[in-house]
Amino acid sequence: MEKLVIHGGNRLTGEVEISGAKNAAVAIIPATLLAQDVCRIENIPNISDVVTMVRILSNMGAVVRYLNKHTIEIDTRPVNSYIVPHEMTKKLRASYYLIGALLGRYNRAKVSLPGGCNFGVRPIDLHIKGFELLGATANVENAMIVASADHLTGASVYMDKVSVGATINVMLAAVKARGLTIIENAAKEPHIVDLANFLNAMGADVRGAGTDVIKIRGVTHLHGCEYSIIPDQIEAGTYMVAAAATKGDVLVKNVIPKHLESISAKLVECGAQVIEYDDAVRVRCDGPLKRCNLKTMPHPGFPTDMQPQMSVILAIANGTSLVSEGVWDNRFRYVDQLIRMGANVQVDGTIAVFQGVEELTGAPVRADDLRAGAAMIIAGLVARGTTEIEDIIYIDRGYEDYVEKLRDLGADIYRKEFRDDHNQPAAG
Ligand code: EPZ
Repeated sequence: MEKLVIHGGNRLTGEVEISGAKNAAVAIIPATLLAQDVCRIENIPNISDVVTMVRILSNMGAVVRYLNKHTIEIDTRPVNSYIVPHEMTKKLRASYYLIGALLGRYNRAKVSLPGGCNFGVRPIDLHIKGFELLGATANVENAMIVASADHLTGASVYMDKVSVGATINVMLAAVKARGLTIIENAAKEPHIVDLANFLNAMGADVRGAGTDVIKIRGVTHLHGCEYSIIPDQIEAGTYMVAAAATKGDVLVKNVIPKHLESISAKLVECGAQVIEYDDAVRVRCDGPLKRCNLKTMPHPGFPTDMQPQMSVILAIANGTSLVSEGVWDNRFRYVDQLIRMGANVQVDGTIAVFQGVEELTGAPVRADDLRAGAAMIIAGLVARGTTEIEDIIYIDRGYEDYVEKLRDLGADIYRKEFRDDHNQPAAG
């Protein structure tokens, strides 16, 4: 087992290069099941969620070739099954995108219910509603989602709630359906647009991605393509917050500033300076951190995946801040770990009230999920003393080379092997 050890107090300074977007990659890789030729994908992030998704496709018979650390070629022509068992899907929430892709390829899919982060209920009713409107039957049987159709026919799909996953899954099923599909109240995240651009590069006809109405006209054939994944909005935001929290001065490179607008605005509200360039943002903070209120919303609102990280700033800012989690029903589990470090926070359902404290103090803590883990790293960077973070396997899922990137910025952080005594019988 590994844990992180962080000696807090160092300002982050210098430059950091952002990797490809995790939430685009885990949708684009299964989308290659729809192509009848080889797809070359560049700027793939080297993270365990991507390794897992690539491994699933390989186990299904796809031929995957890594041209370098960030470029892969995927040929799914040899795939000859629409069944994805539990041992392959249990580690990856995004494995449910295989349903939409397999439905689009075979008119059939049998995929084990996924695993993934544990913050609140994660239903799939909107995914199933979308598949049924396209003409499939879709049910959960023995913890597997079983879907099938004689053929898929374009339909109007109104999303009762804005859902990234359901929007993506309907897009994947609809690109080869007969006729026109209209997704209303669609998610507008950058990775939705990236998937649409990838599908169109394969010869699909997807219009309106990035707005709340996406129109997909089904085609009969999708060819291979070459595509480069967008930079990761949330990885970039995480380093921006870490720079401000440590009173540092960091140039965050290989970003799309427009994707970061809500994060930049909040950091400026908290007293940081954010300077935008064509493909980089510079974040500096040399004054006191100020309180602010935060409400997470679907894009273009403040991203829920940045809520734990931003909350660390509010935990040490001057004054009282209100954080309202507008997407998930239980995304404050990390607060217990922050309180161990001296934070003063009250949580009531989807609302948390942060009374800023002078400083956090280092402590042994754990990562409850991917973004909670990122928040604990930021807390460790600003805390007085040493912080040790366990369960960092969550963080490895979504942040490429984060220890090396942080050390290059001046952080005193390293991985440490340890034996997990939790499972040892108590002595005596
Ligand atoms: C995606 O999850 C992301 N994961 C999450 O990021 C992110 O937090 C979330 O979108 C919101 O942006 C990936 O892209 C792999 P949703 P997803 O469907 O698609 C409800 C990370 O840290 N809902 O947009 O599962 C749901 O309960 C991860 O990278 C239904 O009610 O999220 C939630 O309240 C964590 N029925 C809301 O919609 C459904 O059928 C938004 O969920 C589906 C969702």
